[in-house]
Amino acid sequence: MALRTLASRKTLAAAALPLAAAAAARGVTTVALPDLPYDYGALEPAISGEIMRLHHQKHHATYVANYNKALEQLDAAVAKGDAPAIVHLQSAIKFNGGGEAKSRPPYPFLAYGFLSFFFFVLFIAGDAGGGGSEELGGEGGGEPPHAKLGWAIDEDFGSFEALVKKMSAEGAALQGSGWVWLALDKEAKKLSVETTANQDPLVTKGANLVPLLGIDVWEHAYYLQYKNVRPDYLSNIWKVMNWKYAGEVYENATA
Ligand SMILES: [Fe+2]
Repeated sequence: MALRTLASRKTLAAAALPLAAAAAARGVTTVALPDLPYDYGALEPAISGEIMRLHHQKHHATYVANYNKALEQLDAAVAKGDAPAIVHLQSAIKFNGGGEAKSRPPYPFLAYGFLSFFFFVLFIAGDAGGGGSEELGGEGGGEPPHAKLGWAIDEDFGSFEALVKKMSAEGAALQGSGWVWLALDKEAKKLSVETTANQDPLVTKGANLVPLLGIDVWEHAYYLQYKNVRPDYLSNIWKVMNWKYAGEVYENATA
């Protein structure tokens, strides 16, 4: 598992150490870039291997590195009581941590807790790449949801096709960079489609919202393959969507 608590060496004077080491001495918990459970090319032709490689190795890796750096800086600022620095660091933590927070599916039955949410909710299509492991949703990507989530979608959106149409339209209309989500509102006990700007995680729209699916509509998620035609990316991504994952999260959240 990628979570790691940096080793504590309390005998060393924190003030004499570099920032990261001092943070480690105080037990700051950092995160590490996880491996993907599938090859970069496994989602082709829906999403090219080059996009997946760059997205993971460059973009996601940068969020992880900057998130860890900001945590260490925050730790130092708190230790010094540096209030302006503490406030200043909030935006870096939100931006990079938002990208990272999405990588933490909320339920422990998922073995790959630190995968990017985006990477996790994509899965190998049933007849491409030989399917996948049972652990990751062996039914194969793209297969519409069954059971409770399928029924809830029919009730709240009219049909599965209507939901796909709504999410694709809202993702296409989102200005600049951001995300489109299928959410469960735990209080209202209803599904909803939400959008967030930049790297803002779904929790910024309400602590009652549980992310079931999230689609990254930053240009880096599609431009190499789809150029400026975001709607084509949004119509093809459904072929590799891991509905089994969404269904399991839904069932746990509504149990
Ligand atoms: Fe991204």
